[in-house]
Amino acid sequence: MGRGAGAAGPGGGAPGAGRRGGRGARGAGGSGGSGGGGGGPPPGASFVREHLRGMRPYTPIEPFEVLSARLGRDPADIVKLDANENPYGPPPAVAEALGALSFPHIYPDPETRRLRGLLAKYVGVPAEHILVGCGADELIDLIMRVCLDPGDAVLDCPPTFTMYAFDAEVNAARVVTVPRRADLSLDLPAIEAAMAEPEGRPKIIFATSPNNPDGGVVSDADLERLLALGALVVLDEAYIEFCDAPSRSTWVRQHPNLIVLRTFSKMAGLAGLRVGYGIFPLDLAEYMWRAKQPYNVSVAAETAACTALENMGYLEEVKQALLQERGRLLAQLEGVPFLETFPSQANFVFCKVVGGYDAAKVKADLAAQGIMVRHYDKELLRGYVRISVGKPEQTDALMAALHSLQP
Ligand SMILES: Cc1ncc(COP(=O)(O)O)c(C=O)c1O
Repeated sequence: MGRGAGAAGPGGGAPGAGRRGGRGARGAGGSGGSGGGGGGPPPGASFVREHLRGMRPYTPIEPFEVLSARLGRDPADIVKLDANENPYGPPPAVAEALGALSFPHIYPDPETRRLRGLLAKYVGVPAEHILVGCGADELIDLIMRVCLDPGDAVLDCPPTFTMYAFDAEVNAARVVTVPRRADLSLDLPAIEAAMAEPEGRPKIIFATSPNNPDGGVVSDADLERLLALGALVVLDEAYIEFCDAPSRSTWVRQHPNLIVLRTFSKMAGLAGLRVGYGIFPLDLAEYMWRAKQPYNVSVAAETAACTALENMGYLEEVKQALLQERGRLLAQLEGVPFLETFPSQANFVFCKVVGGYDAAKVKADLAAQGIMVRHYDKELLRGYVRISVGKPEQTDALMAALHSLQP
């Protein structure tokens, strides 16, 4: 794996439909715009904060309907393995609960009391430590807004989830990049060296376990070393339910500089409803509460998440099905001559494309057959694809398509 030092770390993407960007943002970032006269920025851009004018938008996954129209295929005929969604969806009781919402015309509980009560039992931490967001994505941004002054730095270890670097840019923070080792584990000595810099020492370290895009975990020993550095450590556990090792949610009670982020998007199958949560030290939680949007979690989102937690039997069954399928997918991918797989503790498998085959072409050729996998148009990861774990029939379709490809 190369060691590029790009500011926006290459890495795993996320379902991101609806994220702003696209033409508007790109236009605003363009140089030499036409509308302003006199060679300055166009009038719209002149209202924009200076550090955002050149910003590149986040590259989201194409929404399902748009994809289906573009490929000319019914959504049911698309094998969607590009965004680590849960193909089984949430427990059926969620749809019933959403259909029976009594008060959609009333603002939601700004404190998500019912959900936090259930989460306290699920994660084993008192509800006062828990804050719910519109996806873990919202909480990553909220943490930065609360903790960073313009010019402060965050430490990012690509390849990893790209939202850390993206949100840092939005928040006028600097990104200190410490690339992972060749096996994609954290480079602790390099992180420690970066944290020893007297000037511009990062205030927040982002660590992801299991990591996106490879599915590797942060060991207890490495997490202890990160915590000993004294910066705020944000441990993103979006995929923790698929991992052999337990969550570090309860560690927050002993470590005043640890935040653990989790989500309903993966194991609970609620990516479309946008519910994530963080476990915070109490004194930090207080400031998060002050700064968060009051109605950030909709009535539908809270109802869906509560209903999911009340149906743990279903979630456990789905998880077991996905874990079993991950093993089958890995074993089958190992038989594909142009792919080298990484071991994974998440609901996806990261693959290096080898043997002279071009990863972008693998993605495009699979897409032409209605099979979507994730490819990264980023320097560090151009030669890789990430494949989400699906249902057995989706693995079968993927494997048939992979074996039909011509290098
Ligand atoms: C590591 C990681 N963290 C957070 C998220 C976003 O979670 P949410 O859907 O709750 O915003 C993702 C989504 O893919 C992810 O990969």
